[in-house]
Amino acid sequence: MTSGGDAPGMNACIRAVVRTGLYHGLNVFGIMRGYQGMIEGDIFQMQTQSVSNIIQRGGTILKTARSKEFTTPEGRQKAYDQLKAHNIDGLVLIGGDGTFRGAVEFFKQFNIPAIGIPGTIDKDMAGTDYTIGFDTAVNTAVEAIDKIRDTADAHDRLFVVEVMGRDAGYIALHSGLACGAEAVLIPEIHTDIDSVINQVNFDNKRKKLTQILVVAEGDDFGGADEVAKTIKKNLPDADLRVTILGHIQRGGSPSCQDRILASRLGYAAVEGLLHGKSQQMVGIINDHIHFTPLEKAAKQKQRLQKDMVEMIKVLAS
Ligand code: F6P
Repeated sequence: MTSGGDAPGMNACIRAVVRTGLYHGLNVFGIMRGYQGMIEGDIFQMQTQSVSNIIQRGGTILKTARSKEFTTPEGRQKAYDQLKAHNIDGLVLIGGDGTFRGAVEFFKQFNIPAIGIPGTIDKDMAGTDYTIGFDTAVNTAVEAIDKIRDTADAHDRLFVVEVMGRDAGYIALHSGLACGAEAVLIPEIHTDIDSVINQVNFDNKRKKLTQILVVAEGDDFGGADEVAKTIKKNLPDADLRVTILGHIQRGGSPSCQDRILASRLGYAAVEGLLHGKSQQMVGIINDHIHFTPLEKAAKQKQRLQKDMVEMIKVLAS
């Protein structure tokens, strides 16, 4: 099952789970549309051909959803009844922290072996160095910001570029560093807008006229529109434009790194289930497969390297 926001590489992961399960002689079922499909019994048996020609495709063939009904005990009861009706005795859940929080509630109510796989472009999960989709999303953002820099440079303009990350700044931090951004604003660090304005002003004065500010959508000051509006109010002469990259960061063919990560995690999840692991998230730490209790993975965030923000400023100085 895939759940929550889709992420490039989910299909590669589904393929790995299905093929590993079939290799071991298991009956493998796909659940459509996450927990909502589980509740509605939108469940079908999968064969090896069900996952042919998907390793390179973005999105998820199982589709995904955020289910309100699953947050209620009645909804979870329906979901459990459907699993029993289909003789499902083990689950592999691919999704982000919301998916895992739902899973933790589910397993408090019902005991069914399950392994979670971190699939989110946000990378904001503990128990793994990388999540499926992050690398592709960052590369998409980098490609877009490089293009923005071309036009910014042609006009000597300041661009405020908003990338995804409602609660997390990893996409902003990594794409900002990779694109030579002048500053990066992220939710994990309080944004001192006066210091951003000072920096823009200082750069203008010393004729560093092309500037890129990368803002995570969940920054505490607000998104790119808010940041741009405030800069313009304080520096009315600033030639400034806003670009919001939005959902293009979620689509597209997964990068090589995401395909490899997804395949390794999918394989390890089924192997883990077969070896009796349960209520764990499978991740990758220092290039080794690592299992973390689902409850911990659902609660904790990966520690963000805040010093990178300062480094970005220094490298752009
Ligand atoms: O969690 C992944 C993510 O892409 C966030 O970065 C973003 O804030 C959110 O999902 C957007 O969700 P939706 O597609 O429901 O608008």
